[in-house]
Formats: sequence, structure tokens, C-alpha cells
Amino acid sequence: RTVYVNGEYLPEEEAKVSVFDRGFLFADGVYEVTSVLGGKLIDFAGHAKRLKRSLDELQMANPVTEEELLEIHRQLVARNGIEEGLVYLQITRGAADRDFAFPKDATPTIVLFTQAKPGLADSPMAKTGMKVISIEDQRWGRRDIKTVQLLYPSMGKMMAKAAGCDDAWMVEDGAVTEGTSNNAYIVKGKTIVTRHLGTEILHGITRAAVLRFAREAQMTVEERPFTVDEAKAADEAFITSASAFVMPVVEIDGQAIGAGAPGPVTARLREIYLDEMR
Ligand code: PDD
Repeated sequence: RTVYVNGEYLPEEEAKVSVFDRGFLFADGVYEVTSVLGGKLIDFAGHAKRLKRSLDELQMANPVTEEELLEIHRQLVARNGIEEGLVYLQITRGAADRDFAFPKDATPTIVLFTQAKPGLADSPMAKTGMKVISIEDQRWGRRDIKTVQLLYPSMGKMMAKAAGCDDAWMVEDGAVTEGTSNNAYIVKGKTIVTRHLGTEILHGITRAAVLRFAREAQMTVEERPFTVDEAKAADEAFITSASAFVMPVVEIDGQAIGAGAPGPVTARLREIYLDEMR
């Protein structure tokens, strides 16, 4: 695999980052994941915009222009022959002698790599649906910044696996925030409910597109917190992310949601999203 590190395209074995990199020592970095379908980047502009916002919020310098970033994405997709898969991008504050204060003169480290995922858009899970557990949300408070600080979501994923489930929905003050790496939704009657934007959740790029398509299709959308009990009593539930698109959720904490199978609103939104974006 060819990867990109600080201006160079290299075989992955030759790509190196300093042991003093603040991404490594402090999780002082941000990232984006953009999906590729039919060799084409999905919603690159949305990811580039959120990247800029994450960098700004952390007062981190942006080492590349949006045009350069697009070119690097395209180069990696082409060089690695990615038809279906993901492009991962990470920017950290760079290498500096270890100190909690931000260094004044560090050069940001930029790394991109691809992951081939054949069959990404026709995952069998879209037909069977996912099972989730609910866990307490123990992440830091600025979840609107897409940082590489992913240990708690990683633990959440392991808790889900240990319970024989696919993912965990995190709960704070009685309401669901989001999944470990996706935004969470329920459907009651004809209404789609998902948490409002704020510092408690990541402002999903897929979320923005899906809500736009839902409203264009005259569906009702409520952006507000919802509880696990509401989810248990819902007709349908689903998640969205750049890697899962729209994926049904059919069980929470061992209880079936609706008919315990993917529902029509979820299926329709998945179809619209994939049709419109690819
Ligand atoms: N995760 N919420 C969290 C906590 C996320 O990590 C993600 C994305 C999302 C969905 O955002 P988007 O629609 O922009 O992908 C919501 C990526 C896919 C990841 O970590 O792999």
C-alpha cells in the first residue's frame, strides 16, 4: 500500500513519524474518514470543511489547502486502486519536546492512507441490522472536534462485542449522545429523531446529508435528545457514518426495536443516500 506522509508518497513500510509526535504522546491531533464508492470520493467537501473547523478549534495550523488535500486523496485512491473503501486522514500538531503547553514552532504531521473495503455499500448488515448496547458516555466534553482521542469509543466497541452486539450507544444525563463512531437515530411513526448539534456529539457529515434528503422527501425530522426507553419503544432505529452510510439498528440492550428487523424509513433513507451520493 502507498501512504502519504508529510509531502511524500511512500510504501507503508517506509513511512515514519517521530516518537515525539504529539499525536502519539497527547492524542493531539484530528482526523477524517472519507468513503470511496466506484473509485469516487463521497462528500469530500463536507469532510474538508469539518477538518478545517477541528483544526481551528484546537488552534492547529493547517498544513494543506483544500485543493492539495483533494489531490492527495485522489492520488492515493488511484495508486492503491481503491474501488470501494476509505481514505483516512490525520493531522497532528507535530513533534516537539514533551510539554503540556502547545509548542510554538512545531510543524504539523500529516498522514493519509487508504483501506480497501470491497462490498462496502452492500454490507449484509444493511439487511439484518445491528444490535447495540447502551453504555455511559465517558468521553471528554468536546466531541464536536474530531480528535484521535478514541480510547473510550474503542472500549465501548469491546463492551458491545463482549455482550454479543455490534456497537454501543452512549448515554449522558439520560439521553443517547451517539454510537462509538456514528450518529444515532430513532423513528417513531413518520418522525425521525436524532440528537441536536452541540459539543456533545460529532457533527456527522453523513448526518447532514441524510437529514437534508429526509426533509427533501417530506419526512419529519426532530433534532432533540432521546432516551434509551424511547429507542426501545421506537418503530425503527439506525445509525449514520461515512463508513456505514445508513445502517439499521434492530435491538438495544437485548430488546427488539419495532419488528426487530430493518424498517422501511431506514431502508428508504439508505437507498436515497447511496443513490444521491455515488
Ligand atoms: N467516525 N460520531 C462519531 C463519534 C464518529 O466517530 C463518527 C465518524 C460519526 C459520523 O460522522 P460522519 O458521518 O462524518 O462519518 C459520528 C468515523 C467514520 C470513524 O471514526 O471511522
